[in-house]
Amino acid sequence: MIATARCDATAAWQALREHHTNAGRAFDLRTAFASDAGRFEAFALEAPEVFADLSKNLWDSRTRELLLELAHQCGVARRRDAMLAGDPINATEGRAVLHTALRAPRGAGPHSQEVHEILDRMLAFADQVRDTATSGITDVVNIGIGGSDLGPQMAVAALQAHVHAGLHMHFVSNVDGHDIAPVLARLQARHTLFIIASKTFTTQETMANAVVARQWFLDQGMTAQDVARHFVGVTTNLQAAAQLGVHTTFGFWDWVGGRYSMWSAIGLPIAIAVGSTGFRAMLDGAHAMDRHFADAPAERNLPLQLGLLDVWYRNFVGCSSRSVAPYHQGLRRLPAYLQQLEMESNGKCVDHDGRPLTYGTSPVVWGEPGTNGQHAYFQMLHQGTDVIPVEFIAVRRPSHGYADLHAKALANCLAQSQALMLGKTTEQALGERAPTAAPTLDPLTVARHRSFPGNRPSTTFVLQELTPRALGALVALYEHRVFTSGAVWGINSFDQWGVELGKALCGDLLPRWDSGDTAGLDGSTAGLLARLR
Ligand code: F6P
Repeated sequence: MIATARCDATAAWQALREHHTNAGRAFDLRTAFASDAGRFEAFALEAPEVFADLSKNLWDSRTRELLLELAHQCGVARRRDAMLAGDPINATEGRAVLHTALRAPRGAGPHSQEVHEILDRMLAFADQVRDTATSGITDVVNIGIGGSDLGPQMAVAALQAHVHAGLHMHFVSNVDGHDIAPVLARLQARHTLFIIASKTFTTQETMANAVVARQWFLDQGMTAQDVARHFVGVTTNLQAAAQLGVHTTFGFWDWVGGRYSMWSAIGLPIAIAVGSTGFRAMLDGAHAMDRHFADAPAERNLPLQLGLLDVWYRNFVGCSSRSVAPYHQGLRRLPAYLQQLEMESNGKCVDHDGRPLTYGTSPVVWGEPGTNGQHAYFQMLHQGTDVIPVEFIAVRRPSHGYADLHAKALANCLAQSQALMLGKTTEQALGERAPTAAPTLDPLTVARHRSFPGNRPSTTFVLQELTPRALGALVALYEHRVFTSGAVWGINSFDQWGVELGKALCGDLLPRWDSGDTAGLDGSTAGLLARLR
């Protein structure tokens, strides 16, 4: 284990506290821009495929200096290097953390031979399926949950413009039968490929849905031999897959965390959707971001600075959530993907030594694509009592031909970050007409309702185009940012013990559905069980 100072015991943490008290609390974005014509350039960062405007955040150059010093005192770079070298930094599970090896060029990263062997085989299979005239496949159903669902589902939606026109991609994750039932109802067994994706091949939801899918398949008059051709498994547990009658399998390794696995064979649905060339481009983009994270100096290192900004907001400014607003409909599943990536990684309350933390860790991450969010919860972002940093993602070139719609989407994106920052004073509101306000109200009351505090922070990412390469870079950027804040907080970002208790209690409750036995249950659970049976 790498011994580092606990973040709240460092001199930099103390200095950041003082800086927040002396300058951070009173910091105003409007004044900062008015007094510094170079602020946009000073806080702009360029990383592979992603330009980031960090200037509309509640920080100044001193804040940034102190945050970089905090990263230094917490040993973030050493920890990063240990991860990239394959040290077992996931100490509670005794595992290395090597998703970066999955996107390293042939011969370049750890485990290169086995990584590229499976990658080649997986991509050859994907291209075979894509040859629909020969394969006869029109529908691909990925059955998996968490990391075995969210990444592939998010990426396939994001890369819609690159997806094979003759293939319908479906994703089933929930153990609630309302997920799989309508999907099966649309399928023809002989034209369908099922991918059973599970790192462990023991996950209740995935196993239950796989059994339902297999039975449905047989009920359509298909045979056990057909199962072998129409079901493939992606897992680290090849034995369990074989027991289910799944013989075409693509493996991966325990050093790939579930939420970091879309680069492995778990990405098979992406590879089938966009082809081997597209998949390799996605890996390339992610690798370029890995190099940036590893090599760019701290002053220009985008994932590092984003992770540090997250620490600033969480532990000094006092924000407990962050909203993500991609102004590209293709990125509609990105917030859900990021919820697992960030909250399962950094939602921890003890440090590496198991000592309780006295400071906050993962923020709540949430969001919807713009402009939909504007007509739902943006009200709260603009006028609510909490300050919530917002992350806008703008894509310069659309993959459709509706230039007018695209201009409107991007103008909305810019307008929102501008409105959050500028706000509107009561005096300004008083000077405006308010034709929809109740005529009986006095103008000052109306103006108070119509004013905005402003000085609300946001980051804007700009991508040239949502290509496989750009998506790969963007997702890797988020991975490294989560790594950075986790490294500062001194937590294990790569385990997920918090999911275990609910699984165990479910195992105890399930037999009670038949028996009705409520012995030993608390009153609420017993009462609800009786109502639900
Ligand atoms: O329950 C949490 C979790 O273990 C996630 O970390 C993981 O991505 C998901 O379940 C699915 O796990 P598996 O791929 O083993 O089915």
